Amino acid sequence: MAQYTAVIDIGSNSMRMAVFQKTSRFAFHILHEVKSSVRISENAYKNGGYLQDEAMDRTARALGEFLSVARSFGVRKILCVATSALRDAPNANQFISRIRHHYNLSIKIISGEKEAYYGGIACANLLPPLKDAITVDVGGGSSEFTFLRNGKVEQLFSLNIGTVRIKELYFDTGDINGAIRHIDSVLSSLPDLVSETLIGIGGTFRALTRALMKKEGYPLKKLHAFSTTETSFLRFSEQIQGATTKKLKSLYIKPDRFDTIKPGTLILDRIIRHLKVKTLICSGVGVREGVFLSDLLRNAKDRFPANYNPSVRYLLDTYAIHSDHALECSHLCRGLFELIGSHLGIPPRYKHELIIAAKLLSIGVGIQYYAYQAHSHYLALNALDYGLSHPQIVLISHLLLFKKGARSSELIPKNSYGSLLPDTTTLNNLSMILWLSNILLASRVDSKQIGLKFDNPTLTVHGSNLYLAREQLKHIILPKNLTLVLKD
Ligand code: LMR
Ligand code: MG
Repeated sequence: MAQYTAVIDIGSNSMRMAVFQKTSRFAFHILHEVKSSVRISENAYKNGGYLQDEAMDRTARALGEFLSVARSFGVRKILCVATSALRDAPNANQFISRIRHHYNLSIKIISGEKEAYYGGIACANLLPPLKDAITVDVGGGSSEFTFLRNGKVEQLFSLNIGTVRIKELYFDTGDINGAIRHIDSVLSSLPDLVSETLIGIGGTFRALTRALMKKEGYPLKKLHAFSTTETSFLRFSEQIQGATTKKLKSLYIKPDRFDTIKPGTLILDRIIRHLKVKTLICSGVGVREGVFLSDLLRNAKDRFPANYNPSVRYLLDTYAIHSDHALECSHLCRGLFELIGSHLGIPPRYKHELIIAAKLLSIGVGIQYYAYQAHSHYLALNALDYGLSHPQIVLISHLLLFKKGARSSELIPKNSYGSLLPDTTTLNNLSMILWLSNILLASRVDSKQIGLKFDNPTLTVHGSNLYLAREQLKHIILPKNLTLVLKD
């Protein structure tokens, strides 16, 4: 697969392009994104679905510039898909030929089921694992649904309810009740999907989530994997529905959403009530990532290998200059956790975060050696996007902070992510295990050369290269219920 791939999604409301860079077999990151609110579906719904000249002209111009952006990255592969507006349009071919002729670009109109599938595999692969969930992608012309179970896409649906469609057919004439009746009757054609969790995809859901996070003063600037309850979402939805334009601004809605946010919110509101979900999770990924993944993972049944995290791999590929030490550290951390974790009362599930933190221990050196811990922390906090929940991302990145003689809990930044961290004792013990491992490997020996034994409350460490380690032990604070003995 090419190192750089651009994916263009011609949505019915906005058109977007993402440029992906592959950093190793399955690892990638987004190098660039462009969005244009071209609204190709404008005025189509009252005109038999026909794309209108002005809307096609705008889209063609924007598309030309998207391609210029893609070329600037040396992109070799461009995958371009179009959804609801082009699916519906009797004159879609006119637009497609024009683009092929002018730009030598092939636009692929995808079915509603395929569109749902792309959203579904993006969520299944790039959100923290869930037992089951329903994904919902509210677009400009249609909404796509998938039922996910154990990371697999099991069912796909596409319904013709979308923000621009509902705006033009109902909101523009003030017929809100008509909109509700229409949405509800379309939704009644869905089979019974039972899950407590809804994953929201698409521009409308992201706009609402961004606004809700700002309003609530959420401490992280991350949309992807943000989770909220049906109650707070519906309460916010009511405020949006009743808001004047001025009020929408103070509710953190951006001007380019003013005319579609109410129909969009209404659609989501009806879907949430219809499906009776309890938890809502925002997905920062959707059709574009799905198109990219189905290319990347085409020989792997559209799934990453078990226990594979593309963000962790991307960070290691890009910043870990000499990663053997961090890998040895992760082995030692695992050994220590298994030996003393339960004695210290640390819930077993934190082993996962501890081991990822150990692997990422020295990524900050890729920026600069001095204060590398702060650099590692920043990199992890910002670039760990996929496959982890916010509390996991915060814990991993916080563990990467280190100050001689200080406890981890003393390093929590003020007015920040502290509320997402585990309790102080757990945090300090996890940090102690991580940094003790680092110190025990100060002479950069193989972790296999370190022997560990625990006889409550004494942890005995055997090894022949512990001179430097002994000297550095004073930098960490041990819990009261643990005694450490080094034996050379
Ligand atoms: C779409 O139609 O899928 C997108 O344009 C969604 C949006 O609201 O931008
Ligand atoms: Mg879309």
